[in-house]
Amino acid sequence: MARFTIGVVVGSVRKGSINQKLAEGLMKLGGPDAEFRQLKIDDLPMFNQDLEAEPPASVERFRNEIRAADGLLFVTPEYNRSVTPLLLNALSWGSRPYGHNSFAGKPGAIVGTSAGVIRTAAAQAHLRTLLGVLDIRLIVQPEAYVHFTDDLIGPDGAIADEKQHDFLKKKIGKFIDWVAVVAAARKAA
Ligand SMILES: Cc1cc2nc3c(=O)[nH]c(=O)nc-3n(C[C@H](O)[C@H](O)[C@H](O)COP(=O)(O)O)c2cc1C
Repeated sequence: MARFTIGVVVGSVRKGSINQKLAEGLMKLGGPDAEFRQLKIDDLPMFNQDLEAEPPASVERFRNEIRAADGLLFVTPEYNRSVTPLLLNALSWGSRPYGHNSFAGKPGAIVGTSAGVIRTAAAQAHLRTLLGVLDIRLIVQPEAYVHFTDDLIGPDGAIADEKQHDFLKKKIGKFIDWVAVVAAARKAA
């Protein structure tokens, strides 16, 4: 059994999403220590504080999945130099009600891809601010602004570009090491 469960949150559910493809490639890079589980976020209703008192089952499930995860990997597209409404909505649900932030203390990392020149750098900068507010302990380096090209992902769903594969394996490896550090600190506390 893997030592750590990593929840993967992807900010796009559109058919053919390049971030979904990248996330699937990343989930193959964890090695024996990590089991990745993508968290479903597209059945969460649009956040409305009126629903907080009796939230729908999808919200309860999402919060429980966050709490059960040893770490969280965010894979974000860039919309108008920020994150997608889908991702922001999930962050709002997980952070509430006040005083019961499910994200608190979780180790996290961010990756994102676009075909454009900015490569999600602006979205990731916004997301770092948001995740800091949610008390997610981010490991930032190495920053991963992935340029999406047709040959990035192979037919088997793995990261086919050798340079990107090696870089992203290092990124995921450092993240898993960070998850272990946070887990050990929590145990010792
Ligand atoms: C509303 C909207 C805003 C966008 N804004 C940006 C942007 O600011 N920077 C960027 O690089 N791409 C932008 N794009 C293009 C996305 O990077 C592109 O659609 C990408 O494929 C989205 O990720 P996905 O394939 O995982 O859904 C935007 C797309 C949409 C639909």
